[in-house]
Amino acid sequence: MTTAVSQNRAGQDQDSIKGFDRDGIAGVSKGLFKVLETARKVAKSDSSVLITGESGTGKELIARAIHRNSGRCNGPMVIINCGAIPSELLESELFGHERGAFTGAHRSRIGRFEIADQGTIFLDEIGDMSPDLQVKLLRAIQERQFERVGGSQTISVDIRVISATNKDLVAAIKQGAFREDLYYRLNVIPIHILPLRERREDIFPLADYFQNNLLRRTTDYQIKKFSDQARQALEQYEWPGNIRELENMVERISVLVEEIDIQVHDLPECIINDSSHSTSPSVSCVFNKGIGFNEAVDLYQRSLIAHALNESGWVKARAAQMLKMNRTTLVEKLKKMNITPEMDAPIF
Ligand SMILES: Nc1ncnc2c1ncn2[C@@H]1O[C@H](COP(=O)(O)OP(=O)(O)OP(=O)(O)O)[C@@H](O)[C@H]1O
Ligand SMILES: [Mg+2]
Repeated sequence: MTTAVSQNRAGQDQDSIKGFDRDGIAGVSKGLFKVLETARKVAKSDSSVLITGESGTGKELIARAIHRNSGRCNGPMVIINCGAIPSELLESELFGHERGAFTGAHRSRIGRFEIADQGTIFLDEIGDMSPDLQVKLLRAIQERQFERVGGSQTISVDIRVISATNKDLVAAIKQGAFREDLYYRLNVIPIHILPLRERREDIFPLADYFQNNLLRRTTDYQIKKFSDQARQALEQYEWPGNIRELENMVERISVLVEEIDIQVHDLPECIINDSSHSTSPSVSCVFNKGIGFNEAVDLYQRSLIAHALNESGWVKARAAQMLKMNRTTLVEKLKKMNITPEMDAPIF
């Protein structure tokens, strides 16, 4: 991408979130800007938002930003982790209870829905909620009304609902584990946050951001620099723990590595190992490095074949089976592409 084009794109991205306070949210990728743009638009409304994305991608961070940028910002933001509270206690946590409602309920208590009045309630890990409670939640969201456990008085609240999950709710609906009607109520505005491996342009801006945070917290902290090889390893790593994992890595390195320059061997074992037999090309790397379509497809084929061969200990029949390919086709490709056991998987 030429500098002029990328500058133009960056300008357009900035414009799309004009007026939105993105404090604490680092990153430059198109995927992130799409999330921020939707967050900006939705912040002005009271519509329910469902944020999906793998663990550690920033779902809570985005939920907080929506609240902060909304007309409800002076009201409370109440967070409840539906997966962390046993289902028999969750109902009373959400809706409160009256005295004597159950054993141990010595006094009445208000729930999170009431606390969130005039503000936002963030229902985290919504996919873990029991079917029984899903029915009650549906009514509370639909009518903004509910009763405390053991109570008969109907309570009304004025709240905005944001929920989040790292589960595939559509699959859960098919399995009968999640109510379809509740899903549509929650998912008025969907926001999906991409995993870090699908927006690798964010890796270094995030690493810089976390280092700057450390600099603010620790007066004698010196900003570290990643060597070219270390950068390559970080770019290729799959980041299964997403941004949380990157944040932890930066902090770990800041404590354990005393030199300013970070070498590959300073990185956590899993990153070093992952980069030494990287198998999947990333779309962003293809664009960033100006690799053309044909070359990228060729490299990807090589990666798949090399991976299958390594996994099968170079037993071609087995590798062909893994690739769901004829053995003869595989042998032809090996010859044509000049793939040998000594060859490393291509590195993007
Ligand atoms: N774009 C970002 N810029 C800066 N920090 C980020 C960004 N995205 C996530 N983080 C940080 O990464 C960590 C994980 O984020 P968060 O808790 O919002 O993720 P999550 O998707 O809710 O994870 P989980 O599914 O495990 O609950 C937090 O410390 C958060 O501040
Ligand atoms: Mg979370």
